[in-house]
Amino acid sequence: MKRICVLPGDGIGPEVVGCAVKVLKVVAKDVEFIHADIGQAALLRHGKYLPDDTLELMRSCDSSLFGAVTSSESLDTESPVLKFRKDLDLFANVRPIRTFVTRPNHPPIDVVVIRENSEGMYTQDEVFDDKGVTTMRRVTKRASERIVDFAIDYSLRAGRSRLTCVHKANVLKASDGLFREVFRDLMGKKGKKLEAAEQLVDSAALKLVTDPGAFDVIVTLNLYGDILSDIAAGIAGGLGFAPSGNIGPKHSVFEPAHGSAPDIAGQGIANPTATILAGAMMLDHLGMHKEADAVQLAVKDFYASGHLTNDLGGRHGSASFTDHVLKKLTG
Ligand code: NAI
Ligand code: MG
Repeated sequence: MKRICVLPGDGIGPEVVGCAVKVLKVVAKDVEFIHADIGQAALLRHGKYLPDDTLELMRSCDSSLFGAVTSSESLDTESPVLKFRKDLDLFANVRPIRTFVTRPNHPPIDVVVIRENSEGMYTQDEVFDDKGVTTMRRVTKRASERIVDFAIDYSLRAGRSRLTCVHKANVLKASDGLFREVFRDLMGKKGKKLEAAEQLVDSAALKLVTDPGAFDVIVTLNLYGDILSDIAAGIAGGLGFAPSGNIGPKHSVFEPAHGSAPDIAGQGIANPTATILAGAMMLDHLGMHKEADAVQLAVKDFYASGHLTNDLGGRHGSASFTDHVLKKLTG
């Protein structure tokens, strides 16, 4: 029996996570789902965005499924997402994004963004002085090696052929230069079966929009991966299409790449595709490959049948999309 910690969070988090849990319960019979608080609801009930009990539960479960939180603007509040990524040592963020519905003027995309998840611009270490603020942006050899090594293993295992290192080493010569050096070194050792490519982050952003087929798997630093994965999601149809897995040596947390979307919360129109696909990634990670494939096929089938969700201008909201997926899985 596997145990999954379920963290709905804020805004559309509970809506999309609710849909995903319904789907997972249908395919993964031998799984227990245990709900816990995170975000604004946790702050109200426990006085903390990420209560200790929640973190302990995440640690003791086989994996977690997380929705999204609405961020606090207070300077001294640590992000609960950054905290669990750090405390659970979730050093790799994997975001597979692909086109389900071909749209005019949008070339199809099928890319996996692998983002360094532990350092870079996300240290929340900002130092004030009388002139302004300095943000400490950290790039280490160890973290760079860990993520490039992970990306090579991932690409080989997934049958992918091309791994592109995205960086800004023309300006950030020492830090991004180190990341690129590690990429060159490891590709020369264990990544020989893959085609190696390198691209500056600004031109990579342009190329993702104009020629997304040029990319297969991208390995990149934290902030670049955050931004590029949203661009990729936009090409695929919106943020509702980008699932995400935070993976470490012991623990894992799966989530949609999007936030709490307060602009559409409570309306039943959020697209649960990303969260359901994040659930499929979780099943795959836990060794339930058949179940993961079934969920992916059911999602694909919805779009292949000509149905469209609200975010693509269609008439299907969260509930009717999920009903279609459930029907396909049980029918
Ligand atoms: P967002 O990702 O929540 O939304 C951006 C846009 O995409 C909005 O127009 C939203 O309606 C749309 N969108 C997002 N998910 C969608 C879905 N499933 N279906 C249809 N449309 C969808 O980003 P935003 O608005 O910049 O941030 C809102 C809040 O979320 C902020 O407090 C932010 O800090 C937080 N956030 C939390 C994250 C997390 O918990 N992992 C990640 C990103 C942002
Ligand atoms: Mg983001």
